[in-house]
Amino acid sequence: MHLRIPLISVASVAVLSLAACGGGDADPAAYPESEITFVVPFSAGGPTDTVTRLIAEPMAEELGQQIVVQNVEGAGGTVAAGQVSGEAGDGYQVLIHHIGMSTAPALYPDLDYSPLEDFKTVGLITELPMTIVARADFEPETLEELLAYVEENADTVTIANAGVGAASQLCGLLIEQAVGVDLTEVPYDGTGPALTDLIGGQVDFMCDQTPNTVAQIESGDIKAYAVTTPERIEALPDLPTTAEAGLDGVEVASFHGLYVPSDTPDEVVEKLTAALKVALADQNVIDSFADLGTAAVAEDQATPEALTAKLEEQLELWTPIIEASGVTGG
Ligand code: MLT
Repeated sequence: MHLRIPLISVASVAVLSLAACGGGDADPAAYPESEITFVVPFSAGGPTDTVTRLIAEPMAEELGQQIVVQNVEGAGGTVAAGQVSGEAGDGYQVLIHHIGMSTAPALYPDLDYSPLEDFKTVGLITELPMTIVARADFEPETLEELLAYVEENADTVTIANAGVGAASQLCGLLIEQAVGVDLTEVPYDGTGPALTDLIGGQVDFMCDQTPNTVAQIESGDIKAYAVTTPERIEALPDLPTTAEAGLDGVEVASFHGLYVPSDTPDEVVEKLTAALKVALADQNVIDSFADLGTAAVAEDQATPEALTAKLEEQLELWTPIIEASGVTGG
């Protein structure tokens, strides 16, 4: 597996607040007393950013403070997670992350944080299908044709992802393993810009979470081959699952969750969890998630326990697969 374009780990800030916000001696009972920053590990406009901005508004309303969204791209989401793990545990820096939280330890032997030890979990937000998609004029029309084409043209086919540690990279790795090829990967700071290049025809195909692909599949700007979950999804009822389309072993569902540094007081975590539950019950959030091919988790999953359990399960699932692949991010 080789990378064509060097990964640029420059943090760009969509909305950055450097206001003094809390500190180690902040009073948990008074939390929140100033604005809160939600740190997104990928670029603006991608699926993680979209999900974050949807829940930030009702959470801010519930918490009575503004929430600003900061995009800290780089190294497949590990730059942002490393940043938040080193912040004061006062609830003013909150990380949103996806399945990459569970793949990073196997991909980065020198990772400067532990997903389980350096964070407290706030709650699950969504579980997300992924879709295998291509530029509209890419030759293969079905998943079967795609797999044959990729095998025959492994030297020239390009696959986009959001860096080693991204959901798109994990899904792409599974496809490459299934076909037995080593494709030219084109990494971006997020699948928002990757999608722009896919639509523009600069890259051939990718695997991405539905919030970034449903609208463009429906409009015909890109073509879709399959959804990576065991069941078809309501937003794209005609799209076969990978198993239906003859690709066994490429089943991957991403998940989004909220995390804070491990020394955050439980009282602060409880307030964030309560606000998350309110956001996930908000009709606009429910409708928007449905349009994006996903859904808010049930109320009993928007909890620290459920996110910790999910993280443990996913670490156990992906670690041996990634270690066996030999892929590392550095
Ligand atoms: C994004 O928000 O850009 C994506 O989640 C990137 C990815 O993990 O593929």
